[in-house]
Amino acid sequence: MIPFSPPRIDDKTIASVTEALKSGWISTGPKTRLFEQQLATYLGTDEVVCLNSATAGLQLILHWLGIGEGDEVIVPAYTYTASVNVIVHTGATPVLVDVRREDFNIDPEKVREAITEKTKAIIAVDIGGFPADYNELFGIVNNNAIKAKFKPGTDVQSAIGRIMVIADAAHSIGARYHDDYTGKQADMSSFSFHAVKNLTTAEGGAVVFNVSQWFNHSELKSKFKTSSLHGQNKDAFSKVQIGGWRYDVLEAGFKCNMTDLQAAIGLVELERYEDTLQRRRDIFRNYSEALSSYEWAIIPNYISKYKCTSYHLYMLRIKGINETTRDKIIDEIGKNGVAVNVHYIPIPMLTFYKNLGYRIADYPVCYELFQNEISLPVYYNLTDEQVQTVVTTLVNAVNNVLNE
Ligand SMILES: Cc1ncc(COP(=O)(O)O)c(C=O)c1O
Repeated sequence: MIPFSPPRIDDKTIASVTEALKSGWISTGPKTRLFEQQLATYLGTDEVVCLNSATAGLQLILHWLGIGEGDEVIVPAYTYTASVNVIVHTGATPVLVDVRREDFNIDPEKVREAITEKTKAIIAVDIGGFPADYNELFGIVNNNAIKAKFKPGTDVQSAIGRIMVIADAAHSIGARYHDDYTGKQADMSSFSFHAVKNLTTAEGGAVVFNVSQWFNHSELKSKFKTSSLHGQNKDAFSKVQIGGWRYDVLEAGFKCNMTDLQAAIGLVELERYEDTLQRRRDIFRNYSEALSSYEWAIIPNYISKYKCTSYHLYMLRIKGINETTRDKIIDEIGKNGVAVNVHYIPIPMLTFYKNLGYRIADYPVCYELFQNEISLPVYYNLTDEQVQTVVTTLVNAVNNVLNE
């Protein structure tokens, strides 16, 4: 069986985790601190806050912004449910918008149409690792008429003075937008290090800031760290100092800190990340080269004049097929020993969101993309021979099902 996306765990990873275990620092400690510093260097940013997930990162961002009941947050309908659930948790209304046919990313024109006086933020998703169109999104939120509509409800919102642009960068560490890595475009970004991601810590995530025009980033880091530990004003480091037992609680915070066991994996992953990216890039190229001669293959866009993917998901589409045919092809591929996937079931098709009244008919591009999407395996240890096997298995499955 060729799996879809197994993590790259080897002796180096095991040695790093063992070292953390032996050190006695198994929760947030020196390795988390070091991982944050090294991530900041890699991303070319000043401060990074590591957490236990990208979801937690988004939650902390919305919490800091003071999002709540009566507010609206715009988000693409084509994403993983985490991007939308976090809005629901705040009591605000998720305003789903359709995406662009060419790259699965949020459609800036749909965003413009969806803005109301209640809009406080946009969560753009760098889907599959291909960055959203931040220049266009900032063009919209900085437009004078749209700024005039903006009604800040908190001091933070007043300081920013416009709709905040948040990146759900769960997929996109190492992707590029113009000359920068992702993390430097949106006001704040949240990365994921979940087990299936390009760079994993088993579970994990990180937030980076891009709001130095209004806020001091090291103060923000300290605020987010506090929010990630129940709002407690002392972390484990300060509490182990002699006499350091007394603490206070400044807010009803969350509990979503990263542990040193996670950071121990992350440090090894980051050290070899360029290598990981190159292998992933080669796999993408091999797939595209092998599939471009098939008239039914819609090859994903993962490079443009100013954007380059992190090669997270190879989101292939099969021209002209419907959901039933797509599912038959997937079954056939599975029977022949290859695991593929579908990214994603659009949010309006999920029971919880259907019950809230969202309808897939309002998101025609999402449905068009979803019904014929098949994501192919991509991971460091996938060999060229296995890539060839995936292609052959896919081609046979498509031919068999289309000629039934
Ligand atoms: C688009 C997107 N956003 C957010 C998340 C949440 O990431 P995490 O599992 O680290 O919370 C995921 C996870 O798969 C995702 O795919």
